[in-house]
Amino acid sequence: MNKLTLRLNTILGELAKCNTFADVGCDHGYVAEAMLSEGKCDFVYVTDVSGVCLKKAEDLLKNNYDGKFKAIVTDGLKNVPKVEQVLIAGMGGELICDILKNADFLPERLVLQPMKNTEKVRKTVISLGYKMVKDTTFKDVKYYDLIVCEKGEESYSEYEIEFGRDNLRDKGDAFKEVILKKLAVIDVATKTASEEERKRLENLKKKYEEVIS
Ligand SMILES: C[S@@+](CC[C@H](N)C(=O)[O-])C[C@H]1O[C@@H](n2cnc3c(N)ncnc32)[C@H](O)[C@@H]1O
Repeated sequence: MNKLTLRLNTILGELAKCNTFADVGCDHGYVAEAMLSEGKCDFVYVTDVSGVCLKKAEDLLKNNYDGKFKAIVTDGLKNVPKVEQVLIAGMGGELICDILKNADFLPERLVLQPMKNTEKVRKTVISLGYKMVKDTTFKDVKYYDLIVCEKGEESYSEYEIEFGRDNLRDKGDAFKEVILKKLAVIDVATKTASEEERKRLENLKKKYEEVIS
């Protein structure tokens, strides 16, 4: 068993075996190390906009993986050589969208774990020519969304963009818990809401109840 958290192990589980891989905003570099140690890739680019953060990854990799990795201080995917698969995890959805829109290249496969604004990430990957082959919510103390994209086209409903296709189909525990928390917030807000606001909250409540029923 490796030393990764459940969140990082869940992400690792969605990364495919490949030749070249980039972990954008790698910070500690744990996922890159696991990709190399488990033989899931031959060469890794660890990148981060912060040299201080990137040094953690370099220090982690330099003793055992000399010649198998390159560390690059950079903004997103600028100045990163083309790779097959890219991970962008632990950042806000808007930042992930900016990184993808400003990228020097777009890989065949993307694994994304936005901390918020996941619907914006879904819209952006679709606009950039990806389909989402996995789009789910999981729990590791907190709740996280995880999206796996491959090049291709598919059409998505408004609900799928808002909630994620796998969540709507599987209605997994983590997704249900997220929605139940939203419903609890609505119930509290409804108590002091104006008439107009109450109607808006009632509609929202119906929608949330529908997606987990
Ligand atoms: C919260 S950490 C996440 C680390 C790791 N990816 C994870 O999921 O555990 C976010 C990292 O993204 C880096 N970062 C923020 N903006 C970035 C950008 N535009 N390009 C590359 N890295 C960025 C930060 O310096 C930080 O190391």
